[in-house]
Parts: sequence; structure tokens; C-alpha cells
Amino acid sequence: MKISIIVAKAKNNVIGKDNQLIWRLSADLQLFKNHTIGHHIIMGRKTYESVGRPLPNRTSIVVTRNSFFEVPEGHMVAHSLEEAIQICIGKRLDNVFIIGGAEIYNQALPIADELMITEVNALPDGDVFFPEFDKSEWKIVSTTSYFKDEKNEYDFDFVVYKKLKP
Ligand SMILES: NC(=O)c1ccc[n+]([C@@H]2O[C@H](COP(=O)([O-])OP(=O)(O)OC[C@H]3O[C@@H](n4cnc5c(N)ncnc54)[C@H](OP(=O)(O)O)[C@@H]3O)[C@@H](O)[C@H]2O)c1
Repeated sequence: MKISIIVAKAKNNVIGKDNQLIWRLSADLQLFKNHTIGHHIIMGRKTYESVGRPLPNRTSIVVTRNSFFEVPEGHMVAHSLEEAIQICIGKRLDNVFIIGGAEIYNQALPIADELMITEVNALPDGDVFFPEFDKSEWKIVSTTSYFKDEKNEYDFDFVVYKKLKP
């Protein structure tokens, strides 16, 4: 099963502030939707609460230490990232997407096979960051550039990295 991380990060690695996203990038939201639709998505409890509901047409697995946490029918709770991954392996999925936030990205980076990174050409203030990763362990397989317009606050590149096998 391929484990993909999908994230939008600024040049200074900022990914959020006050439990919110910090930019208006309609083309990036569309990319996120196109890639994740129909799939299982794993997220931390804070990211789940910042969205406020399961994203439509995807199966959410919310990671929390709270044993009383509940999600709507059809979605799942896991009490560690490993448990979330095991659920997906048990369902014989081809691909699962890790959609954040920072705590979950940190734990998922060592086991990810693919990074889909929206590299936003901005230096915003923020309080959560995507972790630094060793670029020598990854190969860029595609880069697509998008330009600022009335629906997209900043220029950005959508870069797909594949993990190089040791
Ligand atoms: N730019 C992007 O692409 C992007 C994507 C996603 C999120 N974000 C931003 O990231 C921020 C949220 O990130 P965050 O790092 O604060 O929170 P998070 O990773 O979304 O969630 C953290 C929570 O996940 C649970 N958790 C983490 N590790 C766990 C483990 N090993 N076992 C069990 N539970 C575990 C804990 O929940 P409990 O406290 O309930 O136990 C923890 O408080 C927001 O600002 C959001 O907008 C940005």
C-alpha cells in the first residue's frame, strides 16, 4: 500500500495558524480534491476539528488519544498513526493519504512513499510547520506551476516526490 502525504506549505514551512489554513488557493483545493477523492484520508484530531466535518466522498480516519471521540457513520477513529495504517492495510487499499496536521506529518514522514507538496511562494506568520526532510532521500517526479490570480492569493508549485529505496 502506497502511503502519500499531501500538504500545502509556505517557503518557511508554515502550514497553519490558530488551527486554520492561511491562504486562499482555489487551484490547490481542487488538486487536493482530485487526488484524495474516493480514498481513505488520515488526519490528526485538530485538523479534523478545524475542517469541522468529514470531507465528502472520502473515508476519514481521525487519530486521537481520546477513547470517547466519535465521528459520523462510515468514518473511523484510530488511537495511533500505526493503528490508522493497519486499518487501511486490513482493507487492502492501494493508496492512503495523510492530510495533516504537523503532528501527524512528523510521524508519517519516515513511513511515507510519496509527498505531494504544494510549495506556496509566501512567507506567512504561522504556528504549525511541515517538518524538514532530507531531499537526498527523495526524487522529484513532477512539478507543475500555478500562478496568482483572483482565486489564488500566491504563485505555487505542485511538486510530487517519490521516496528513493535504500
Ligand atoms: N497546509 C496544509 O496542508 C495543512 C494540512 C492539515 C492541517 N493543517 C493545519 O495544521 C494545523 C493542525 O496541526 P496540528 O499539528 O496542530 O494538529 P494535528 O496533527 O491535526 O492533530 C494533533 C492531534 O492528533 C492526535 N495525535 C497526534 N499524534 C497522535 C498519536 N501518535 N496517537 C494518538 N493521537 C495522536 C492528538 O489528538 P488528541 O489531542 O485528541 O489526543 C493531537 O492533539 C491547523 O492549523 C491546520 O489548519 C495544514
